[in-house]
Amino acid sequence: MTETLLYEGKAKKVFTTDEANVLLHRYKNDATAFNAKKRGSWEGKGRTNATMSAAMFAYLEENGVPTHFVEQVDETSIKTKKLTMLPVEVVVRNVAAGSISRLLGFEEGHRFKAPIVELCYKDDDLDDPLLNWYHFRELGVADEDLEFCEELGLKVNEILAPFFDERGILLVDFKIEAGRDEAGNLMLADEISPDTCRFWDKETNEKLDKDRFRRDMGGVEEAYAEMLRRVTEISGHGLQASGKDPKADA
Ligand code: ADP
Ligand code: TMP
Repeated sequence: MTETLLYEGKAKKVFTTDEANVLLHRYKNDATAFNAKKRGSWEGKGRTNATMSAAMFAYLEENGVPTHFVEQVDETSIKTKKLTMLPVEVVVRNVAAGSISRLLGFEEGHRFKAPIVELCYKDDDLDDPLLNWYHFRELGVADEDLEFCEELGLKVNEILAPFFDERGILLVDFKIEAGRDEAGNLMLADEISPDTCRFWDKETNEKLDKDRFRRDMGGVEEAYAEMLRRVTEISGHGLQASGKDPKADA
């Protein structure tokens, strides 16, 4: 397979492949936080994020959510459809943590009456600000695309919150992205991993996500390994073991 580096981001390298409109995402062990002001790296991060993303995309597809996922190629790489990304980061929150505590004063751990959806503008230079629909219209983002993002966020939450609950995990919040294929179809893209979600153990409230790195809590490598274990080793929903192509036995 001829791979040409198309883009190197903070957490992944994205390559073109021999197949038109198919990309290869290679997940790195590198981590950043606070818009890359803080940097780190740990063993197994790329494996967890690639394998968990593959499993989550496959599970969401089974449950009627269109995604960019094609197949997992190896432990740290997945193939996806090549999309034109919307400049939107969709954040869904079930429990207060992170920026909403700073924005509105909610104590960490406060459970919201209903999921809260936020639309942020994907622009590192501006620190991905939280915007409303009027701002997005001015930036040229169509209302129908924003509507898709909000509905997608809520649908993904409806499917994944019980999935993680069955594995002893509280889905506190997450960030997703979406894009459009050549035919104009909108779908879920990017990744679903402990980088982009907050996961708390249901019994102990232990954090099993990137907040351990953001807040210098230690144990980040172990936390990612534990999330990979809960997703791939705990039976149910036909998910395959770690590192296997989720479609191999289909
Ligand atoms: P960042 O750009 O924020 O540093 P990453 O290191 O995760 O992030 O790089 C991956 C990039 O690829 C992101 O900018 C993301 O929006 C983009 N992307 C994710 N899925 C697709 C896709 N299917 N097609 C095109 N681009 C994608
Ligand atoms: P926040 O509380 O910092 O706004 O984060 C909300 C969720 O979004 C959390 O699960 C972490 C995730 N996230 C990203 O995936 N990328 C980012 O750049 C930021 C700031 C948050």
